[in-house]
This record gives sequence, C-alpha cells and structure tokens, in this order.
Amino acid sequence: MAGTALPTDDELAAAGLRLAVEEGASGGVARITLARPERHNAMTDRTWTALAHVGHALPASVRIVVIDGEGPSFSSGIDTAMFAPGNEDSALNRFIRDPAGRAELDAAIAGYQEGFLWLRRPDIVSVAAVHGHAIGAGFQLALACDLRILSYDADLCMKEPALGLVPDLTGTKPLVDIVGVHRALELCLTTRTVGAEEARELRLAELVVPRDQLAGAVDDLVTALLETPRDAAAATKELLLGAPGRTLAEQAAAERAAQVERFAAWAAAAGRG
Ligand code: ACO
Repeated sequence: MAGTALPTDDELAAAGLRLAVEEGASGGVARITLARPERHNAMTDRTWTALAHVGHALPASVRIVVIDGEGPSFSSGIDTAMFAPGNEDSALNRFIRDPAGRAELDAAIAGYQEGFLWLRRPDIVSVAAVHGHAIGAGFQLALACDLRILSYDADLCMKEPALGLVPDLTGTKPLVDIVGVHRALELCLTTRTVGAEEARELRLAELVVPRDQLAGAVDDLVTALLETPRDAAAATKELLLGAPGRTLAEQAAAERAAQVERFAAWAAAAGRG
C-alpha cells in the first residue's frame, strides 16, 4: 500500500520479528528475521499481522525479501499459548468459547493469511533460509516463499492435522504444486518430519548447504537475482506462476502478451512509444 509506513521496531518486537531494508544500485533487499529464539521462533497472530503490514508497506525499491530465523530453528509454528485457556487475545480461543462467531474466525484467519500471500507478488522474489525446525505455520511460511534454501539440519513438518487442525496459512497449494497431491497427502496425514536431503529430492528445497554456509548461499542467490532486470523478472515470475492454471495455448498467448508489453517498454524507453 503506497504511503503506508513500515511497522515500528516496537510493533516488530511484539510480533517476534526484525526487519532490515538494504537499498542497493540494483534494488532493495528486505530481510525479515523471526526473532523469538527462546521459543524456537513460535509465531502468534501478531507475527502474521505484522508480516501483512510489512507486505503492505514494503518500499517500492524492494525486489528481494529474505526470511530467516534466529537461534536453533526457523520456526516451531503457532505459539501454543494461542490455545491456552484464558488467553482472550486469541480469536481461536474466542471461537472455541463461542462457536457462533464463525464469520469472525474466518475474517481473523483471512487476516493471518495476508501475512503469507504477499510473498508471491510478482514484483518481488521471496527466499526462505531454513535451518532447524520448520513446523506447522513455520513450514507454511517457508512454502509461501518463492525459493527455499535449507541447511542440512533443517526438519520440515506439517503438524496441524496431528493437533486436530488443517494447514490454513496458505501452505497447502504450494505443497501440492511442488510435491503433488499424493505425496502432500502422505506428508500431511502422517505429519512425519522431512529432513533436508529428502526435502531436496521432493523439490521442497532449491539448495541444501552446511549450516555455516546458509547465509552465504542466500547472499549469492540474492546477488544473482538482482542481476536480472526488475521488470523482466516480474513479468517472468507472473508468467511462471500462472502456468499451472493454463492450457498450453493459453500459456503461449500469455507469453505473447507479456512479450508485447516488454517490447512496448523498450520502445517507450527509446522514445518511440
Ligand atoms: N509454542 C510455544 N512455545 C514453544 C513452541 C511453540 N510452538 N515451540 C517451542 N516452544 C518453547 C518450549 O515450550 C520451550 O519453552 P520452555 O523453555 O519454557 O520450556 C522452549 O520453546 C524450548 O523448546 P524445547 O521443547 O525445550 O526445545 P526442543 O529442542 O526439545 O524441541 C521443538 C524443539 C521440536 C520445536 C519442540 O519445542 C516442539 O515440538 N514444539 C511444538 C511444535 C508445535 O507443535 N507447533 C505447532 C504446529 S501446528 C501450527 O503451527 C499451526
């Protein structure tokens, strides 16, 4: 949302997040760190609301968003205190007490999902740097990103069904898109943990590296991504993300339409538009 201010450091700290935006000649890089290491970066509704806020307020210069975790894990998922009896801040608890509030809960979850959905925007490329545990909402946050680099100690687990829930933070679609419906079913209904090397075989990781090389591998990827012209990168991402929902003929038409726009931009840049 143009003109919206980024969350304050206090809002971020209350949400268990840190944010740094680095400007560069080829574009900006936003680094979001999950920062509640003493709780393995468990996430609350405030985390997801603040993530949505970051997405709305991201400076237009930002091209790359990197999400990583401080401490022993990427994220242990939802903060289980959100289910603790007496926690009246929690929309989940309010619904359990008053199941009539279905619309309120639906709206609350839609708000949480906003924290994840913006990571697919064509004008940015999002990268998850995952080490240690990525459980439940943590796994879904990694899935919300365009690219995932894991360290060898990473363990992914879609834990929600074991707790009597479904994964609802936008993770089911990318999971099915990446591993296929049958493997997704097996992973979600056994809630088993997938180690980094299996994650790479399942295409859940673009790259797996030793723990002490994770930050460097992410930096190398960011450098390579920034070398591609921004508008071409955005148009290509939009084309690729739309491909699974189109027929070959529709995709060919989408390629043509995107290319015409590219050449029109070139013509405009050359003063012939
Ligand atoms: N919510 C709240 N607190 C948490 C969470 C969490 N999701 N995960 C870890 N913590 C806390 C622990 O309670 C513990 O607190 P304490 O020091 O006050 O006792 C502290 O973080 C350290 O955790 P340990 O369990 O001692 O660390 P360990 O290395 O043995 O295990 C692990 C780490 C595997 C992450 C374990 O804590 C765990 O299984 N956590 C729960 C994971 C979970 O079920 N998440 C919900 C998934 S569903 C969803 O996200 C929608």
